[in-house]
Amino acid sequence: MPDRQIFTADLNDAGLFDAGIPQDVFSGMRATRGLVWTPIGAAGDGFWSVGRFADIVAVSRDPETFSSAAGHIQIYSIDDDALQARASMIDMDPPDHSRLRRLVNPGFIPKNIRDYVPIVRDRVSLLLDDIIEQGGADWVTALAKPIPIGIICDMLGVPEEDHDYMIELTDYLVAGTSARPLDPTAYGNTTPLRLLPFNSPAAHGLTEYARALGEKRRADPRDDMVSKLVTAEIDGQRMSDEEYCNFFRLLIFAGNETTRSAMSNLVIQMARFPEQFARLKQQPELIPSAVEEVVRFASPILYFRRTATRDTVLSGTQIKKGEKVVMWYCSGNFDEQQFENPQQFRVDRPKTVHVGYGGGGVHTCLGSGLARLELKVLLEEILKRDMQFTITETPEYVHSNFVNGIEHLHVKLS
Ligand code: HEM
Repeated sequence: MPDRQIFTADLNDAGLFDAGIPQDVFSGMRATRGLVWTPIGAAGDGFWSVGRFADIVAVSRDPETFSSAAGHIQIYSIDDDALQARASMIDMDPPDHSRLRRLVNPGFIPKNIRDYVPIVRDRVSLLLDDIIEQGGADWVTALAKPIPIGIICDMLGVPEEDHDYMIELTDYLVAGTSARPLDPTAYGNTTPLRLLPFNSPAAHGLTEYARALGEKRRADPRDDMVSKLVTAEIDGQRMSDEEYCNFFRLLIFAGNETTRSAMSNLVIQMARFPEQFARLKQQPELIPSAVEEVVRFASPILYFRRTATRDTVLSGTQIKKGEKVVMWYCSGNFDEQQFENPQQFRVDRPKTVHVGYGGGGVHTCLGSGLARLELKVLLEEILKRDMQFTITETPEYVHSNFVNGIEHLHVKLS
C-alpha cells in the first residue's frame, strides 16, 4: 500500500488523549493533504482519519457510502454476530434506522423538551448550593455526573432510588472503552463480553433493568418515556423487546457521559476564560452561543467511525470498499478553514455550527436539544450565583480515545 500517508501519531492509543484533545496532533492532520492512515497490527487492518470540518460533514451526510451498519462504529473490529447482538439505532442505516428514529423522535422535539426546564433547574440549583456551602468540590462527582443521568432517568421514568445504580452501570459501561480489565460475571452477566456494547457486563445489567421496567410500564403505564416506548406504534408496528432494550441502553449512555463531559468542560473554560463569561452577565442573550462554544471546545465524543460500502474518493484520497473511516469531531471543531481563530473561546462566536453533535446526517444527535437545555440552565444558575472557579488539581481525563470524559475536576470557589 505505497500511496497511503501513514500518520505519525497513533490515534488508536488512548494514552494520546490522557491530557485532553492533543491539538498539535490534529492540526498536523488537518495540514496534511488528503486523508491519513493509521495501521493497526500487522494484518493490513487500519483506518482512514477524517479531520477537516467539510469532510466530516460530507461523510456524515452520505450513509449509503459511509455505513454505520456495515461495521462497528468504533475503531476496533467486532464479529458479525456481535454487531447483530448489540445493534441499536446508532449502528443502523436507513431504512431500518429511519423507522426507529421516527418512533423515538417525538420525545425529543423542542416543545416536549421544554417541559424539563423546571426539573433541570431544581436539580442544578440544589447541587450548586451544596457546592457553594462547601466552598468547592470535585465538580464531576458533585454535579456533572448526577445531573445528566438524573434528567434522563426522570425522562424515562426510572425511580429516584435507582439513579445511583444507573450511574454505576454507565461508569462501568464507559470503562469498557478503556484498558481497564472488567469482571465478565458482574451484574449476573453470562453473555460473552464480545457480544456486549463496549464489551462491558454493565450492558447486561442495563438490559435487564430496562426489561423489568418495560414490563412494569406495559402493565401499568405512566406519563413517562418508557411507557410511551413500550406502547408506541409506527405504521401499526411496535418496537420489539430487543429494540426497546437496546434503545434504553443507548439513551442512558449517549445522554450521560457526553453531557457530563460538556458540564465539566464548561467549568474548565470558565476558569481559563473568565472575561468571556463575565460578558454573559451583561449580555445574557449570548448564553445560547456560549453553550455551543462550550460543546465545540469540549467535543465530548471524540470520533465515530463509518465503513465504506464501495470504492470512493474523499479529499483526493482513494478509499476502498470495506475500509474504516473515522471522523474526528474533536479535529473538525478546531478546523482553521471553518472557524476564525479556533483555539480562542468566544461566547459571541457568530453562528457556531460545530460537529460536536455530529456532522448533520441521519444520526445527528437525538438529544442535542436536551443537552443544550441542560447546559443553558446550568450556565444561567452559575451566573445568577456569581460563581467563579479555580481549578485546584490537574483534571483527570478518562483513559479513552473515544470520549473526552473527565473523571475528576477539583474546584474551589473564588
Ligand atoms: C453535549 C452532549 C452531547 C453530545 C456532544 C452528543 C454527541 C453525539 C454525537 C456525536 C452523535 C453521533 C452523531 C452522528 O453519528 O452523526 C450522537 C448521537 C446520539 N445522541 Fe447525542 N450527544 C449529547 C447528548 C445527548 C443526550 C442528552 C441524549 C439523550 C438523552 C443523546 C442521545 C443520542 C442518540 C440516541 C444518538 C443516536 C442518534 C441516531 O443514531 O439517530 N445525546 N450524539
